[in-house]
Amino acid sequence: MNRKTLWNVSLILLSSFMLVQCTPKGNDKFIDDLMSQMTLQEKIGQLNLLPTGPITTASGQNTDILDDIRRGEVGGIFNLKGVRDIRIAQDIAVKETRLGIPILFAMDVIHGYETIFPIPLALSCSWDMAAIEKSARIAACEASADGIAWTFSPMVDICKDARWGRVAEGAGEDPFLGAAIAKAMIKGYQGEGLKNNNEIMACVKHFALYGASESGRDYNMVDMSPNRMYNEYFLPYQAAIEAGAGSVMSSFNDINGIPATANKWLLTDVLRKQWGFNGLVTTDHSAIVELTNHSIGNLESVSARALQAGTDMDMGSRAFVAQLEKALKDGKITENDIDIACRRVLEAKQKLGLFEDPYRFLSDERAESEIYTESNRAEARKIATETFVLLKNENQLLPLQRKGKIALIGPLGNTRTQMQGTWAVAAVPSKYSTILEAMQRNVGERATIRYAKGSNFMYDEKFEERTWVNKGELPHLDDEQLLKEALEIANWSDIIIATLGEPAELSGESSCRTNLEMPDAQHDLLQALVKTGKPVVLLHFSGRPTVMNWEQKNVPAIMNVWFAGSETGDAICDVIFGDVSPSGKLTTTFPQTVGQLPMYYNHRNTSRPQDKDKWFEKFRSNYIDVTNDPLYPFGYGLSYTTFDYSPMKLSANELNIKNDSLIASITISNKGEYDADEIIQMYIRDIAGSITRPVQELKGFQRIHLKKGESREITFTITPELLKFYNNDLDFVCEPGEFELMIGPNSRDVERCKFILTE
Ligand code: NOJ
Repeated sequence: MNRKTLWNVSLILLSSFMLVQCTPKGNDKFIDDLMSQMTLQEKIGQLNLLPTGPITTASGQNTDILDDIRRGEVGGIFNLKGVRDIRIAQDIAVKETRLGIPILFAMDVIHGYETIFPIPLALSCSWDMAAIEKSARIAACEASADGIAWTFSPMVDICKDARWGRVAEGAGEDPFLGAAIAKAMIKGYQGEGLKNNNEIMACVKHFALYGASESGRDYNMVDMSPNRMYNEYFLPYQAAIEAGAGSVMSSFNDINGIPATANKWLLTDVLRKQWGFNGLVTTDHSAIVELTNHSIGNLESVSARALQAGTDMDMGSRAFVAQLEKALKDGKITENDIDIACRRVLEAKQKLGLFEDPYRFLSDERAESEIYTESNRAEARKIATETFVLLKNENQLLPLQRKGKIALIGPLGNTRTQMQGTWAVAAVPSKYSTILEAMQRNVGERATIRYAKGSNFMYDEKFEERTWVNKGELPHLDDEQLLKEALEIANWSDIIIATLGEPAELSGESSCRTNLEMPDAQHDLLQALVKTGKPVVLLHFSGRPTVMNWEQKNVPAIMNVWFAGSETGDAICDVIFGDVSPSGKLTTTFPQTVGQLPMYYNHRNTSRPQDKDKWFEKFRSNYIDVTNDPLYPFGYGLSYTTFDYSPMKLSANELNIKNDSLIASITISNKGEYDADEIIQMYIRDIAGSITRPVQELKGFQRIHLKKGESREITFTITPELLKFYNNDLDFVCEPGEFELMIGPNSRDVERCKFILTE
């Protein structure tokens, strides 16, 4: 036997010994036995969740993380990509540590793995729960095929302030829709409850209220009334917990003076006691060490506070490994506090089947055959078409015919690094098409397409750099020259398709803006294109609601395409050439000006509401320089066809609080020339409550497909449960009295009628 074989045999023997030691009995006894063998340091090591770059590098192996594992100081690793590297790390944990406890591998798989789906805000505009679930299912299949068992998704933070860059990562401003999406995502990721090796543990984030960061500035403080928390912000987190989410990530912000990461009321009283969550809580990246910046103590005491608040894993701070032993000696925590957290980490690994097989998610074959497949790409393409929101379509400019001379102009028209949008950690842009490539494929010989970049993203190169634009692909070029080239092509063309807006990283983490208009260089380009007199279709890219007054007034057709993922180019072609009618509807209000923020449809009425038909009135709740209206309301989005809404019918005018129900029905007819999907929305207003209530709240929606000429009756069931809210004592109640029911194609253009909830 040579030395290598001897080494392999001993490894196999050693690993089977470890596996026997770790074989679960499927109940707590296994964890009890395991924990009884663990030293204090080993328990604390399990609480450590570390990021790492690639282990295998051109210059050899990055051994730092491997040494951490050998020392027994790693419970989980995140954002390490690829079976080869993950296996190296897992091997060390399983074969070279005393108890062979496997590592939990995580990643920010936010809207797809290598097959990238539209950014979450865009996905929400599909209002298609089956499609959203499917996107998460495919993401889980691909990620798990590449070694990942845990994703830091979904992000369910409600956001009403478009300045916040991370509005891109959530489902918009509405808690009812947000809760439905949260459930769909959990179901998609966790499948049948983590039974299979293509199901991964979800992590609901950022708990809590991160989307309400003051002034839309990232990581900022949150001060909020309990009424608002429970009625407007908590619902999606709670829905995710009810759907069985395996883990939760605490948020960076403080809440009424206590940082979420050290907030016992939040992480224990609300999350565990009120909502019954029994899974794993991790901090956000470096959140424990950053608690010292929140000025609530030194590293030792904030580590102790975070642990006692209900945090189990310390992501990226290395504070638990550095401080908990000392905190224990100093009497700031007990060994039981550490045991509780360690048990939750081990339970998560147990749920994922890692003790039975630490290599459960590591298969070269799966990695080879299940990622970025044709069928996954087809789903992503289809879903992407559902997320585009047609904002304006004067004289039915869209859809276009595949003929003549098409000018494709704008910095987003020929890039493969920008289409996936923010937070696409595993994306491989070299595999994706640019819009130009997709369009050339799509029209073939039938039309001539010419492309010009037309402008930089913005004049200020330093600003552009802050948005991480890939300079290799999109160098900052001479402004005048770019415009000249664009105008030459524009003047040659029959139609201009302008691909303009935010670069991908102008939204997402740490990408907050105070000016929500189209960046200057592109805005000037757009003005010049419109001035040519050629028809202009604006394909507008953004990760947030933006301010588009000039565009709305001057550009004949505008479609918001967000960032639609790896299949953006093909999906755009499907819609602009009329194979699919656009059907997305906004899940955030688009303001007329940034000064209106925070802005959202489900606001309360105030004591002096603005009169609907008046612009400004002295001593009313309005601005002196702009109306209270949004530019585009929540739920808004056009189609190539027209839908007719019949008057609404109610099965009765009264509903009894004891388990009664009402049926609201309405007939929708497709009166236009295209088969298309429509999203029908139902809103309710509680006219007199014990606390002030919003002017309308989404309480139901349906997405239907109607062929041209087809009509269908749609029904919504209204139950007392649907009318409940958290009252001043935070009891979840419905109160007898009058209610207004609204049904329509968006939150503004609704049919209205009333009903009474009786005792
Ligand atoms: C910080 C972000 O806030 C969070 O969403 C993400 O999951 C972690 N970093 C890990 O990358």
